[in-house]
Amino acid sequence: MNIEKRLQELRDLIRKYDYYYHVLDQPLISDVAYDQLLKELTEIEREYPQFVSEDSPTQRVGGTVLEGFTKIEHTLPMLSLSNAFNDGDLRSFDDRVRKVVNNREYIVEAKVDGLAASLTYEEGKLVLAATRGNGVVGEDITHNVRTIRSVPLVLRKPISIEVRGEIYMAKAHFAALNEVRLENEEAPFKNPRNAAAGSIRQLDSKIAAERTLDFVAYHHAIKDEEAVMTHAETLKNLRDLGFKVSEFVECKTIEEVIDSVRTIEAKRHSYAYDIDGAVIKVNQKTQYQTIGYTAKSPKWAIAYKFKAEEVITKIVDIVFQVGRTGQITPVAILEPVEVQGSTVSRATLHNEDYVKTKDIRVGDDVIIKKAGDIIPEVVAVIKENRTIQTPFTMIQQCPKCQAPLARVEKEADYYCTNPNCPAKQVENLIHFASRKAMNIEGLGERIIEHFYNEGYIKTIPDIYRLKNHREQLIVRAGFGEKSIDKLLENIDKSKHHPLHQLLFGLGIRYVGEKVAKVLAYHFDGLSDIIESDEESLKRIPEIGDKIAQSITDYFSQHETLEMIRELEDIGLSLRSINVQKEGIFSGKTFVITGKLEHFTRDQAQEEIEARGGKVTSSVSKKTDFVIVGEEAGSKKDKAEKLGVMMLDETSFMERIK
Ligand code: IVH
Repeated sequence: MNIEKRLQELRDLIRKYDYYYHVLDQPLISDVAYDQLLKELTEIEREYPQFVSEDSPTQRVGGTVLEGFTKIEHTLPMLSLSNAFNDGDLRSFDDRVRKVVNNREYIVEAKVDGLAASLTYEEGKLVLAATRGNGVVGEDITHNVRTIRSVPLVLRKPISIEVRGEIYMAKAHFAALNEVRLENEEAPFKNPRNAAAGSIRQLDSKIAAERTLDFVAYHHAIKDEEAVMTHAETLKNLRDLGFKVSEFVECKTIEEVIDSVRTIEAKRHSYAYDIDGAVIKVNQKTQYQTIGYTAKSPKWAIAYKFKAEEVITKIVDIVFQVGRTGQITPVAILEPVEVQGSTVSRATLHNEDYVKTKDIRVGDDVIIKKAGDIIPEVVAVIKENRTIQTPFTMIQQCPKCQAPLARVEKEADYYCTNPNCPAKQVENLIHFASRKAMNIEGLGERIIEHFYNEGYIKTIPDIYRLKNHREQLIVRAGFGEKSIDKLLENIDKSKHHPLHQLLFGLGIRYVGEKVAKVLAYHFDGLSDIIESDEESLKRIPEIGDKIAQSITDYFSQHETLEMIRELEDIGLSLRSINVQKEGIFSGKTFVITGKLEHFTRDQAQEEIEARGGKVTSSVSKKTDFVIVGEEAGSKKDKAEKLGVMMLDETSFMERIK
């Protein structure tokens, strides 16, 4: 079979399926079938790296790390839009337009709340992506934009064009991202817009790739612009070239425009992404010059801004939650209200400082909104309505175990000082069994609380001893035989889960999912981690002072070691099954020989490992590549004899580029 032909076929097919899936929202084939094609392409490219091209669908995973952002001057300034806040503003806009042109039509589009970006294609290939910046000069974000699935790397026609549009994060991806961040004790993003902005301004494109961004196009500049007469045609063109465009409505009169804006506003929450308004543009592009521009914005378009949906309700109580780490969070209990289509009855108040700065008191009427449409937040107190005079006071004792609380220096949060606080213990057990940790199906929050209160499970090892209570659970607690056996089976299965799941499940401060994976990758097993000191932990690039100290503190506690010993006796697997990193070298074994000009041995090894490969010291039949530097000796000869593929430094560098 002709390799190049098959590569072309696979790439075309995948591009087509991507287009239908990400742009048209109409998947043509199953995920499994799609994955198979992508796998075949990846494998062929791995075998024939000389045919890997930048615009191949495999090149979206990220990996390029920049040292800084390059400034890009826009060929044409990226203008902003003037705003309309009510129907009157829209009618005045129409009056201004009608003063200079006779017949006008309008296009109304949803205004996606993200960040404007400009994409440059040459002969159909994406060559540059830039942020808006100050409108005149932006920053080169090509490495990150390449990871966005709804941005075609290759257009469906080989033309040169500049496309402008909005980079955004869909609400579902935003919610999932924040969930992980909270679990990892990282500050959640305030809204999808901030999350998108934070992700696109990353030097390491791996991060952008993980964050799942999206792009919707609303404008293009082709050299032969005259050929496109209307904005509706522009949008249609963009769609045909392979871009997502938001749905749009053509309107003949400003009353029709106002109607369309209302319709969009009424269903704003049903969009998969945040929209903060509607954009109204004159349809006839030939009229743009006549209508003209101000210094900042075109006079032929306007943005209608929706009001943020805020609702008034009363704070009936402020309660305190105890987290897994013992962290105490004040939570406002609200008179239930509808906000954006769901009932809200609680809002986090974060910490003492937050409550005091806003001067929030029980009994207050407050304005609440959903940040990023999701997390309810108290915006402000309506002080005029206040009847209660008692200001908020922070509790001094744990609401669950009455132990004194302590505030960590320079931190806003209080913690329960009792290591055996039942609230902490329950939260820890819940975390241990949760999906991203030991993933014990059937052992959810409610059932853990029940088992804890009944005394069946107090500690993590108790989970694995639950089987000793099987009869009691059936007779006394009224569990069905089948369901209890299923649960016990799931518990038993979890003994053999990979080490990183256990490490994450232990709930060590600052050891989130990612750090857990790093630890499992760098050490052969739990005992090596227990024995390592802060210095050796800090030698791992992803681990800083704070994490290293937290790990050594945790494993120096007598109770921890006792628990680990119990887990070992129970038969949990505490060894790493070295989870290889994913990357272009996944599953490949390298040997390095001779002197390299641009790397030390350690650096070359890091580059290989970072891409999923492994480095060993001697050449065998199992070796996939030998990197041959200056003055290479017997290993080179052996590679030659065994027919192992050899790479000189230049071709190695090309592959990791
Ligand atoms: S047109 C000259 N269309 O809103 C044309 N902008 O407030 C300028 N935006 O900077 C932009 N959706 O980031 C346009 N359908 C849409 C839009 C849109 C979102 C953003 C864009 C712009 C900002 C202006």
